[in-house]
Amino acid sequence: MRDFKGKTAIVTGAASGIGLGIAKALAHAGANIVLADVRAGPLEAATKAIEATGARAIGVTADVSDPDSVAAAGKAALDAFGALHIAVNNAGVAMHGTPVEAVTPQEWDWVIGVNVKGVINGIRTFVPMIRAHGQGGHVVNTGSVSSLFVREGRNQGAYAMSKYAVLALSEALEQELAGSGIGVSILCPGGVNTSIFDSAATRPDRFGGSYSRPGQEALKSAFANGMLAPDVVGRRVLQAIQDDEFYILTHTGEREIIGARLDRIKAAFDRADAAMPTIDHS
Ligand SMILES: NC(=O)c1ccc[n+]([C@@H]2O[C@H](COP(=O)([O-])OP(=O)(O)OC[C@H]3O[C@@H](n4cnc5c(N)ncnc54)[C@H](O)[C@@H]3O)[C@@H](O)[C@H]2O)c1
Repeated sequence: MRDFKGKTAIVTGAASGIGLGIAKALAHAGANIVLADVRAGPLEAATKAIEATGARAIGVTADVSDPDSVAAAGKAALDAFGALHIAVNNAGVAMHGTPVEAVTPQEWDWVIGVNVKGVINGIRTFVPMIRAHGQGGHVVNTGSVSSLFVREGRNQGAYAMSKYAVLALSEALEQELAGSGIGVSILCPGGVNTSIFDSAATRPDRFGGSYSRPGQEALKSAFANGMLAPDVVGRRVLQAIQDDEFYILTHTGEREIIGARLDRIKAAFDRADAAMPTIDHS
């Protein structure tokens, strides 16, 4: 996609952080913006900020973990602007700082509900809407650099698991939309200066409601180095949609560690090459 004028984009998790940064960049490029978020107050402020730039925008309160809520957001987009061209499935929550064995069943439901099912609900609702008009479009799913490796020492297995799932969904979607005129990207940022470590406050009631998670202040400091501004990430996403990039990377510091992970997989293939002929297959 190169021309965003008069096109419509929906961005989930748009009340703050990366979602708002993407919404701003798309608005600046001429798109109509549907901001969807679970937090009504910040959503209203964000929608006003987008409108103040001269763009057309609406805010829709939505919980991405609830398929009906996402369907209602999609309907609101069509009611307001007539067609949908870009979907940014961005809403997500942190689950860093707790070892995998200590994450509670409710926390698993919540992190999978928002980070994985939120993307699934967005794909199920928004992709048919983009297909419907035949003009093409683009889907961006927000993963993380944690879609590509699990960072040691941060106890972020549950979060990384959810973000690996976003990568699999995005790879599948890219294959399934080939030739349709609808591009697919996965945004895989490293640290971005947002309120992600306050996300326990946004936990919906059916997952146990708002709570406070230990160690989040320490995590904020641990991630503080090399944090990007959300607006910079938003502009990077706009450029990547224009260039139809699948992997949207923003930080380069993890190049070696992710390369080492891939080398480990390649070495496992080498061992299989060596071992399998010597094993009885009958
Ligand atoms: N900040 C980072 O360093 C970083 C790095 C990599 C990936 N990400 C990802 O970026 C995305 C955006 O996060 P952010 O860093 O901008 O944090 P953020 O907390 O500023 O923004 C997330 C937004 O999602 C909303 N949200 C939370 N639960 C929701 C739900 N159930 N339904 C709808 N909206 C909901 C929040 O209200 C918030 O406005 C997330 O998917 C996150 O995992 C963030």
